[in-house]
Amino acid sequence: MKADIRDVIDDYIDAHTDDVSSLLQDLMQETEKLTGLARWSIGKVEGKLMQLLIKISGTQQAVEVGTFTGYSALVIAEALPDEGILITCESNEAYGEIAQRYFNQSPYGKKIQLILGPALDTLKEILESSVGFVFIDADKPSYAVYFDEAIRILQPGGIVFVDNVFWRNKIFKNKITNENAKAIAAFNEKVMRDDRVENVMLSIRDGVYLIRKK
Ligand SMILES: C[S@@+](CC[C@H](N)C(=O)[O-])C[C@H]1O[C@@H](n2cnc3c(N)ncnc32)[C@H](O)[C@@H]1O
Repeated sequence: MKADIRDVIDDYIDAHTDDVSSLLQDLMQETEKLTGLARWSIGKVEGKLMQLLIKISGTQQAVEVGTFTGYSALVIAEALPDEGILITCESNEAYGEIAQRYFNQSPYGKKIQLILGPALDTLKEILESSVGFVFIDADKPSYAVYFDEAIRILQPGGIVFVDNVFWRNKIFKNKITNENAKAIAAFNEKVMRDDRVENVMLSIRDGVYLIRKK
């Protein structure tokens, strides 16, 4: 049977994108062994895109909503300058423990501050216009509120990077029944209506929204 063209394209993109560090590869393997949920992590291609954006934009301070076992946090920390800081939010203690164990092993881990608890509480503590990059990757029904907080804490020109904006392709159905897909579809329309930002949606993995605060 002929391979799906999307799989062919994804394999080609993967083969023509730089590798991530060996620690990140180890973390992906251990995440699969311990949780069976390695697919939750952003993976190499999305990770390299994120690293290039952080480097090109010269971001000093970043915020992540949804740490899981720390893959994307380490991706961000690797790309930040030496004095850079990442605040990453996670509500699940067991995931946070795995993440912290890997942060401790990484030469970049000292840049990462893991805050356990509801992400919205943490975001509300962050000063207005203090951040250059926000990554949203936690509970889907809260994307809209995380986005509004992101716009509040971002400096002008700052970037919001949002994962899973296709929600497993369920947002493309004529009648959306899945609750996460409904929330994501509404979120995508909200971003399109928002004059505070400019945006581009990318067909990488489960869909990425790249948004710049004006
Ligand atoms: C898709 S995973 C994040 C994956 C991670 N960004 C990566 O690429 O490695 C989503 C995470 O968000 C966390 N989460 C869900 N709701 C949350 C909330 N209200 N506050 C903080 N974290 C939350 C989950 O426990 C889960 O670990």
